[in-house]
Amino acid sequence: MRALILAAGLGSRFKSQKAKVLHTILGKPMLWYVLRTLRELNFREIGVVVSHQAEEVKKVFEGEDGIFFFHQENPKGGTADAVISALDFWRDYQDYLLVINGDSPLVKVQTIKNMQRYIQLVEEYENIKLSALLLSGFLPDPTGYGRVVKDHSGNVIKIVEEKDATIEEKQIREINGGVYFFYCPHLLNVIFSIQPSPKSGELYLTEAIALMHKKGYVVRSFMAEDQAEVMGVNNRWELAIAENVIRLRILERLATEGNTIHQPETVWIEPSVVLEGEVEIEPGVALRGNTKIGKGVRIGRGSVIENSVVEEGAIIEPYSIIRDSHIKSGAIVGPFAHLRNHSVIGEGSHIGNFVEVKASEIGSHVNAKHLAYIGDAQIGDRTNIGAGVVFANYDGKQKHRSKVGQNAFIGSNSLIIAPITLGDYSYIAGGSVINKNIEEGDLAIARAELRILKGKGKEKLL
Ligand code: UD1
Ligand code: MG
Repeated sequence: MRALILAAGLGSRFKSQKAKVLHTILGKPMLWYVLRTLRELNFREIGVVVSHQAEEVKKVFEGEDGIFFFHQENPKGGTADAVISALDFWRDYQDYLLVINGDSPLVKVQTIKNMQRYIQLVEEYENIKLSALLLSGFLPDPTGYGRVVKDHSGNVIKIVEEKDATIEEKQIREINGGVYFFYCPHLLNVIFSIQPSPKSGELYLTEAIALMHKKGYVVRSFMAEDQAEVMGVNNRWELAIAENVIRLRILERLATEGNTIHQPETVWIEPSVVLEGEVEIEPGVALRGNTKIGKGVRIGRGSVIENSVVEEGAIIEPYSIIRDSHIKSGAIVGPFAHLRNHSVIGEGSHIGNFVEVKASEIGSHVNAKHLAYIGDAQIGDRTNIGAGVVFANYDGKQKHRSKVGQNAFIGSNSLIIAPITLGDYSYIAGGSVINKNIEEGDLAIARAELRILKGKGKEKLL
């Protein structure tokens, strides 16, 4: 099965340097959703028409098999010009080609399957070969879309674009969704007869429908079940609306799979996130990139988790930011914690409020419950890190690493200057500045001795 994606347009209504199809929906380019739908449908050969920002557009397909790129000389040539640019892809194809606009990311897999089934049924029961089947929908406000004009028997006569529509035609609510199955031999018979639009000079693919009808070929429209599916994304507000539709679809799927999502209107979960079930998501949470959340994890209000793994039974308290990190089962993180750069938090460890952990490996059952910076460090199991402890990992030129053994104790407000090693059961008295290695079991104290001057305080204050 072959499909052709039209992705060469400038997207001038976006008012952007960036190609329209590269604008993102939940962190992925609009085009990625179209590609994913086609892959789910098992389209093995996918043609893509590119022009504006062609190299960047091609990157969306990196690592994919069976992708064929075609260059449209003039990105303002129009949708038929785009299909002609890919002539080599379909000229000899004796079957139905799916043509899909790159700015139609909301079409569902099931809808396209239903269209395929409809073509088969028409062939079997009516004994006719459709020349084209186009996806249509009823929109309360059809402004801007091509209107589907039909005859009394329900066959499509033509599609009129907004700019060319008469007042009566503008009243038509059935619009063209930009997704078509074309029987290639018939498409080939009409596509070169398309004349440029007198208004824009573009060659409209939708003109092929009128030409087919004139030749006596049969064209039908297929109504989308969910009207959002036919939406084209032509400006940034439509992008926001499309993003909302996809966001809610993802949340609905996750909830159906057995995860609780509180106040879904405030929750942002990107398409490649995996929730393993019984996950509880509080309002305002964002889960991004390749994030995997284990069974029974609770994620507190306002937390952001990106490209990270949170294992079963961990708790993320509110307003925590976690990037590129791994939290093992039973750990508690937050509230207001910040983990980043490939940090690992061991089983049952507790990283509390205003603790930042960067590129560090924290063992199991470690406590760092308040106000600490742990950077480029390795911390052994059951070690305690007091409030206000700072690992000074940067000397102004280079980063250095620290290694702390198991069962160690680092008292509050200590400064640990890397590179350094603190042994198992080492004990750092609070307020110490430590710049030498401390061996196993030793106690280190590095602070000015306490002096008490009798009555001197009151004397100064009076
Ligand atoms: C198009 C349809 C319209 C339909 C609507 C559905 C035409 C003439 N009109 O209008 O009937 O209701 O989609 O969303 O087809 N592109 C190219 N090369 C070009 C021009 C466009 O590759 O020269 C690509 C664009 O990148 C885009 C797609 O084709 O992904 C559709 O183009 P767009 O300009 O958005 O068409 P609409 O005006 O939305
Ligand atoms: Mg469009």
